[in-house]
Amino acid sequence: MKKLFSEFNIKNVKVKNRIFIPPMVLSLSNEGYVTSNNIEHYKRLAKGGAGLIIHEATCVNPNGLLSEGQPGIWNDDQINGLKTIVNAVHEENVPIFIQIHHAGVGGISENPICPSPYEYKTSTKSVVGHEMTIEDIKSIQNDFINAARRAYEAGYDGIELHGCHSYLISQFLNKKVNKRTDEYGANPEKFALEILEGIRKVTPKEFPVGIRLGGFQPRIEDSLHYAKIFEEHGIDFLDISYGFSIEQEVEEIPDYKYALPIYAAEKIKAEVSIPVFATWGINSPGLAEDILLNTKVDLVGIGRGALINPNWANDAIAEKDTGKCLECKKCMWFGYSKVCAGKVLFEKK
Ligand SMILES: Cc1cc2nc3c(=O)[nH]c(=O)nc-3n(C[C@H](O)[C@H](O)[C@H](O)COP(=O)(O)O)c2cc1C
Repeated sequence: MKKLFSEFNIKNVKVKNRIFIPPMVLSLSNEGYVTSNNIEHYKRLAKGGAGLIIHEATCVNPNGLLSEGQPGIWNDDQINGLKTIVNAVHEENVPIFIQIHHAGVGGISENPICPSPYEYKTSTKSVVGHEMTIEDIKSIQNDFINAARRAYEAGYDGIELHGCHSYLISQFLNKKVNKRTDEYGANPEKFALEILEGIRKVTPKEFPVGIRLGGFQPRIEDSLHYAKIFEEHGIDFLDISYGFSIEQEVEEIPDYKYALPIYAAEKIKAEVSIPVFATWGINSPGLAEDILLNTKVDLVGIGRGALINPNWANDAIAEKDTGKCLECKKCMWFGYSKVCAGKVLFEKK
């Protein structure tokens, strides 16, 4: 496990091993404000030995929430609560980035915004997003920029823009969703790039800012194109996942050994020179090491594995059983499931 346990730097941020905890909304906040449950959760994760934690998707505007209990960063009053999470994690000598997010048409708002009119259907509801005006665009970009300034003030070590999983930035990036006829349609990355530019003005230049990008937006070629553009504009890292779920054109890769977001991360890593993170289905230290060596990505994410066993990284280092996600997907996306069979099995041992 030489590579998995080796150090890495993201700008000046020292990451003691290649394991990061990807953002996972657990809906534990009190109307967007940090609760003791949030703090305990991050403290537990930080004690678990991962090199980096990315704080769950934290909403930049109450109209962009993805769940009622999602944490928020739309108000200066929220800084102190977030600071307590940062301090709890820093006490364990672990850096923490924060993912900042707006759901657009993919959230709980009954009158959501979207780059252009789009009907978003899930198994339980259907909602139509209304086209954002230029004023809406500027205003939401400012929400992201102010959120980043608050995150910096709270002490986070870096920012991750949520640019995947069907939420607002991925709605802009995916041309099957973004049908605008203006410059935000002609250059779908413009929305996120202007946010990046604004964040640079309110945070020091050494403060890392990255994006979680869908590997299929809608095709892998589009994501490669975006990855290169973000790199050219100075983004500090790319964290690769799925894109706008129902509007992806995912390639079939019959002999590929790992999950599709890892395939996309590998392809992107081959084309850029900034750090690339890969996540999805990494359920053993051996698999994590294998992926690092074979795909050349820089960090590997352990998501559900860390919900089952917050001590995943320490157990990997000690060569103990790390537990295994059974892929029932009942926890996705909203929290510690009461029916996590993987957790029950792990805790019985
Ligand atoms: C409960 C839960 C909440 C999640 N919330 C987020 C989120 O806030 N932001 C995000 O980008 N991905 C989110 N994800 C996706 C994870 O970050 C990760 O990409 C996914 O679980 C796959 O990795 P894994 O196989 O290691 O669990 C969530 C996943 C779960 C299970």
